[in-house]
Amino acid sequence: MQPNPDNLPRHVGIIMDGNGRWAKQRGLDRWQGHTEGAKTFRRIGEHAADLGIRHMTFYAFSTENWNRSPREVAAIMDLFREYLTEARERKKENEEKQIRLRFIGRRDRLPADIIKLIEKVEKGTQECERFFINIALNYGGRDEIVSAVQKIALKVRNGEINPEDISENLFSDYMYTAGQPDPDLIIRPSGEFRTSNFLLWQSAYSEYVFTDILWPDFTNDDFDRCMEQYAGRNRRFGK
Ligand code: IPE
Ligand code: IPE
Ligand code: MG
Repeated sequence: MQPNPDNLPRHVGIIMDGNGRWAKQRGLDRWQGHTEGAKTFRRIGEHAADLGIRHMTFYAFSTENWNRSPREVAAIMDLFREYLTEARERKKENEEKQIRLRFIGRRDRLPADIIKLIEKVEKGTQECERFFINIALNYGGRDEIVSAVQKIALKVRNGEINPEDISENLFSDYMYTAGQPDPDLIIRPSGEFRTSNFLLWQSAYSEYVFTDILWPDFTNDDFDRCMEQYAGRNRRFGK
């Protein structure tokens, strides 16, 4: 069944979790789970755009994920390289579909060649206005808030902002997602019931769907079922 187009979320966040367990279940190495998860990411990104969902944020690598083994981190970085190279080659296609790619998170600590690729891909799609795909890479919600505070504090010190003018709206403008609507729905596969530092500020009134499915197994139908669940939610925003 196709999700109801009248009640689709404008922005969906996905915590792409469960790659390691998916690999373990099959007696494979963890990196093979990440490779499979990267395929799911491409497929769901396209599917969401086909449904008409304009904003997607995919949590790909957290500020805490550096604590994994160097081998696993290197394998994940290779997958980013592959994706970014492909995205650069698909520039024309992204333009036709009007897909804008953004990488949210800290740039420091990332390998220099990946930073270069990110800059190229972001620049290459910056005119695209129909679909927005954010990839959270070296991202932490607390880190994002602290960075925003630092930027605002500097402006206060320089006399560019009055402390009394610091509002929720102004603060949102200092988040990586500035200009985008807050996520209406956040999906977490893999059976964990936590946010793991994802979009802390933006998720104040997000709906959540938790599912046991491991990310590499997550199908387009599973995504549609999440849309149905979302459509049945009664959002009150405290009213
Ligand atoms: C998510 O899958 C991918 C990253 C966090 C990079 P995991 O690697 O966390 O998979 P599990 O949770 O161990 O199954
Ligand atoms: C969250 O998954 C981060 C990403 C999916 C990128 P983790 O596997 O890192 O989260 P925890 O450790 O289960 O909370
Ligand atoms: Mg995990």
